[in-house]
Amino acid sequence: MGNIYAVTNQKGGVGKTTTTVNLAASLAATGKKVLLIDLDPQGNASTGCGVDKDNIEVGSYDVIMTAVKAADAIVTPDNLGFDVMPTNSDMTAAEVQLLDVKLREHRLRLALESTRQNYDYILIDCPPSLSMLTLNALVASQGVLIPIQCEYYALEGLSSLLKTIERVKQRANPSLELSGLIRTMYDARNNLANQVSRQLITHFNKKVFHAIIPRNVRLAEAPSHGIPVIDYDRSSRGSIAYMAMASEFMRREATND
Ligand SMILES: Nc1ncnc2c1ncn2[C@@H]1O[C@H](COP(=O)(O)OP(=O)(O)OP(=O)(O)O)[C@@H](O)[C@H]1O
Ligand SMILES: [Mg+2]
Repeated sequence: MGNIYAVTNQKGGVGKTTTTVNLAASLAATGKKVLLIDLDPQGNASTGCGVDKDNIEVGSYDVIMTAVKAADAIVTPDNLGFDVMPTNSDMTAAEVQLLDVKLREHRLRLALESTRQNYDYILIDCPPSLSMLTLNALVASQGVLIPIQCEYYALEGLSSLLKTIERVKQRANPSLELSGLIRTMYDARNNLANQVSRQLITHFNKKVFHAIIPRNVRLAEAPSHGIPVIDYDRSSRGSIAYMAMASEFMRREATND
């Protein structure tokens, strides 16, 4: 059964897309069957996987808003190693259109029912908002991964995200769990980063991934080539960090830690 994970944080630019793309690639590199779903109208994950946003015939928008089947909206870019359900700015319209449809928070979950068994892991890249699209991701998922940039405002907004997760769990998806918090763009020479990191561990303890994603220019460069960092510079610190994160993620999910 495919396990579905929402990669989310309503704060912008914290490393959601970088984490989704590179975790997907790292899991795929260990032989797992992986699907990445891009739910963000910015379409950054699609671009980062080498999919041309401007030439998407059908994507996650069509799956959520129309009768298009999930399997028909999935592409397998050459040499990527995993599948992608892409999106683009068409998705912006979904936010408003969803307000008028039945089971509006359940559209993605229902659409994935027939496809999820084809994958070991399905990762959903969410937009930077607690919107109807993010709710769709949370209702469809078993786990939530929250990338956190250890800066002054990092913890602000986290409590409303956790409340939203709790509300979705109670009302729509009892199996939803917080899988973990991932420290991203980390600079260990920065005192504030270390301080925020300690706060995270105090509050969330084992929910904080041991693997830390450092600030690494290779991670920022790879998307402009439309490939994950593992294919761009396998021995870079960013690539090694996401491989370590993927191993920890698989171990945690296997033991329910
Ligand atoms: N570990 C890292 N080291 C260096 N640059 C990074 C790292 N992680 C992300 N970046 C860069 O920081 C920017 C924001 O990252 P990313 O797009 O992954 O964040 P996001 O949370 O998905 O943003 P948004 O909220 O807009 O969707 C991007 O330019 C990305 O390449
Ligand atoms: Mg993003």
